[in-house]
Amino acid sequence: MTRRQRIVMAVVIGGSLVYIILTQVFLVFAGAPGEPLHPEVRKFCSAAIKKNVSIAEEEGMPIIYVVTPTYRRPEMIAELTRLGQTLTMVQRIHWIVAEDSGTCTAAITILMQRLGLPYTHLASPMPDVYRRERYVPRGVSNRRAALQWVKEHGEDNGVLFFLDDDNAVDIRLFDEMRSTDKVSMWPVGLIGDYTVSSPVVNEGKVVGFYDGWPAGRKFQVDMAGFAVGVGYLKKQKKVTMPYIAGHEEDGFLKSLNLSIKDIEVKADGCTNILVWHTRTAKNPSRTLKLDNHQNDNIKILTDNMREMGMIK
Ligand code: UGA
Ligand code: MN
Repeated sequence: MTRRQRIVMAVVIGGSLVYIILTQVFLVFAGAPGEPLHPEVRKFCSAAIKKNVSIAEEEGMPIIYVVTPTYRRPEMIAELTRLGQTLTMVQRIHWIVAEDSGTCTAAITILMQRLGLPYTHLASPMPDVYRRERYVPRGVSNRRAALQWVKEHGEDNGVLFFLDDDNAVDIRLFDEMRSTDKVSMWPVGLIGDYTVSSPVVNEGKVVGFYDGWPAGRKFQVDMAGFAVGVGYLKKQKKVTMPYIAGHEEDGFLKSLNLSIKDIEVKADGCTNILVWHTRTAKNPSRTLKLDNHQNDNIKILTDNMREMGMIK
């Protein structure tokens, strides 16, 4: 090797080492925990602002923005159909369905239009770095995209509520949360070792949390256990939801500069269950053999199922 070649090689190897070291140092020191290092991909797909029917008594009522993260799997359309039909019984809501995906699923758009609710359909895929983690922070990229939408388009007297696609909700919960000023809370059933997660209330004030998984959290609550006033949300400078599995709620509420004494108590002083952290059994995503059914209904049926994400 000539002297010149050795110098070139030294520069290439040295340069690569410096690059690797600098990016690692950046990773450790520059990013706040749970904050992505690259801009997230976000796609706005469709929306309907007005309900098909206009109901006079809804006028002047604060609007509730219900944010539902979802992702393609065999149960997806079943979950969204059940939840969406429940939401049609609620006054003054705007349903934001946020897909963990780079694109929006047509079967969801069709469902939203058929339900006739005011809605927004958007998509934002989980960055690959988080999908490779041992505990994957589920539904964060899509909730963050919805959060941005609410900050930009939400009415100041409105209310934000995160409702996962597999949960079960009593529509009376919406009457409870509609008056939220800063942050309101209530119990969530079917969670963890205590079968419930709830604020502890003494003389009408929150004094702590009854939750089987404290995990060092300041706010030991589930995603379905609180609502936020949009005006209050907009006033906060650093609103975020971290990509940290199990700490999404706590991270989000901490970013709102909230103190425990500000929490508004709902559901009869946190004595009633109006929402449940139900979970649906998972079905395998199958590839079906259809050789003998190219000329009958099964062909069309299975094409429709594929559109819904039920089969491969
Ligand atoms: C629990 C909490 O209820 C969630 O709010 C929290 O995000 C999650 O733990 C977590 O800490 O990761 P869990 O029932 O265990 O939820 O999780 P899933 O129901 O599987 O997912 C929560 C939501 O995210 C659902 O609406 C689901 O459709 C969505 N999700 C899940 C995605 O958007 N992408 C995924 O890859 C997985
Ligand atoms: Mn769930």
